[in-house]
Amino acid sequence: MCGIIGYIGEEKASPLLLNGLRRMEYRGYDSAGMCVLHGDRMYVKKGAGKVDEINAKHNFITLEGTVGIAHTRWATHGQVNETNAHPHLSCNGEIAVVHNGIIENHQELRKLLLEEGHRFTSETDTEVIAHLLERGYRSGFDVRLSLLETVKMLKGAFAIVALFRANPDVIAGARKDAPLAVGFGKNENFLASDVLAFVGRTDKVVFLDNYEVVFVRKRGLEFLTFDGTPVVKTPVQVAWEIGDVTRKEFRHYTIKEIHEQPDTVERAIYQDRDKLESFCKIVRDSAKIYVTASGTSYHSGLIAKYLLAKYAKIPCEVTLASEFSSLNGLIDERSVILAISQSGETADVLHAIAAAKRSRAKVLSIVNVVGSSLVRESDLGLLMNCGPEIGVAATKSFTAQVALINLIVAKLSNGNLVESHLKSIVLRVQQVLRNEEHIIEISKQYSENPDFYFVGRGIHYPVSLEGALKLKELSYIHAEGMAAGELKHGTLALIDRGTPVVVINPEDDTYDDTLTNAAEMKARGAKIIGISTKISDIYDEFVRIPEGHESTYPILEVIPLQMLAYYITVERQQNPDYPRNLAKSVTVK
Ligand code: M6R
Repeated sequence: MCGIIGYIGEEKASPLLLNGLRRMEYRGYDSAGMCVLHGDRMYVKKGAGKVDEINAKHNFITLEGTVGIAHTRWATHGQVNETNAHPHLSCNGEIAVVHNGIIENHQELRKLLLEEGHRFTSETDTEVIAHLLERGYRSGFDVRLSLLETVKMLKGAFAIVALFRANPDVIAGARKDAPLAVGFGKNENFLASDVLAFVGRTDKVVFLDNYEVVFVRKRGLEFLTFDGTPVVKTPVQVAWEIGDVTRKEFRHYTIKEIHEQPDTVERAIYQDRDKLESFCKIVRDSAKIYVTASGTSYHSGLIAKYLLAKYAKIPCEVTLASEFSSLNGLIDERSVILAISQSGETADVLHAIAAAKRSRAKVLSIVNVVGSSLVRESDLGLLMNCGPEIGVAATKSFTAQVALINLIVAKLSNGNLVESHLKSIVLRVQQVLRNEEHIIEISKQYSENPDFYFVGRGIHYPVSLEGALKLKELSYIHAEGMAAGELKHGTLALIDRGTPVVVINPEDDTYDDTLTNAAEMKARGAKIIGISTKISDIYDEFVRIPEGHESTYPILEVIPLQMLAYYITVERQQNPDYPRNLAKSVTVK
């Protein structure tokens, strides 16, 4: 949930670290900080707020020195303020630490350390790490032993990067259940939560596995397991393009990413045929499929359920990753778990697949981020290839997931769904995007409404959930996504004069029933915003989507909903890229 970065090399560290902070800000943006070693002193600057606000106050690049660490925070323990911002220092100020994750036994450790005379300055769980490192160091351990002893005492999830004043030639890192990657450069190396932080400088990357530590020097790396056993790791090459994170001509990443969808949908369905076949074979050979995911990716999972049932006649159960324990006792070696995740780092998803693996199930995944934990923990993963998604709201990753699910289902469908149904999808996505001006008008009209409802039937029901989630997280307007047929079972009581209801209703076998539900709401005063291939008098506002194969409608329907959420948010003068309280990648349970 936080972003951490370390640099050691020959160049001034602070501009590189600042660039890394800006690129990792999507991971957490309530505070940030930096520590650079120069001469024989550690210099720390940190504060609450966005990176550029803190930088305006502290001017990070005035920090000299060629080795340093930095952090962007999404608070878990302790308020959002300068004191709780990372880096955190040991009592003597000689060791600085940045951390992503949660130290579950921090209270116990704090007590122990206080009894031993350590003094704490922050309310964070992280600070215990700095003091534990100091404890080891004071007892005569070197950097390596101090870190190995420290990680053994920590419970929970962590990626750590630490800097030692007396050892300016090394930065140390450790990983358990939170991502950490090493970037190999020429006479310089990086450590970061995300390759985005350094990919402009090097495309050679080693991803740490769980229970590994690394000691990074200007010209050398040493990997060990937590018990001190050396590990040989081979770098992989990542595409430079994944470092393309500029907003281009767009005002926000969110709208840029919405507009990238013709391209990203196309890239998602361009898959290695052998890999796709192996993926489908694992599904065919299984006795039972369980799909698991969180948030938007869960909505894609629900769409997979409808498509697998209808075209491949394969039943599957879709479970929120945070509720995966409800399947305890059902999963065995004949089960397949399909985990869907943009980041590949969502803690709930990783915990779910870990549980499934303990029951000897096979794990398949659909992931966007190359080298992420989910990719590495899966038996087989397909990449969505939609490039970095920086906006906190998942947009292009959702349509990429749905497109890829369409491709997989076509392969599994014995000809019931032919791949050519995806042929004109790019064109149709482009057509939908042309509704933008009209959606801006609608957004202006409805931006002050306190409640919104989104309804759809069948495969359109998950899209209604997704439309509501987008609106809630970006605009902070209360919104509910509903199965259209469920309205009359209670929620209809909330429909009042002027309540906006978005009805997702292209012409397929759900059309007539959903239109009837729309009429029932209109009769009670609702304002109906119809998203459909066909206009109707019932709609007060109408957004046309192009006709196409019914299995691809979710891709087309969701785009107006993404734009609606985006433009309502802009209308309300809020920043859609950085919604309050949220972060892109939820690496805590
Ligand atoms: O990276 P993941 O797909 O695993 O993320 C899951 C959710 O955290 C994510 O979809 C979240 O709900 C988005 N902010 C929704 O826009």
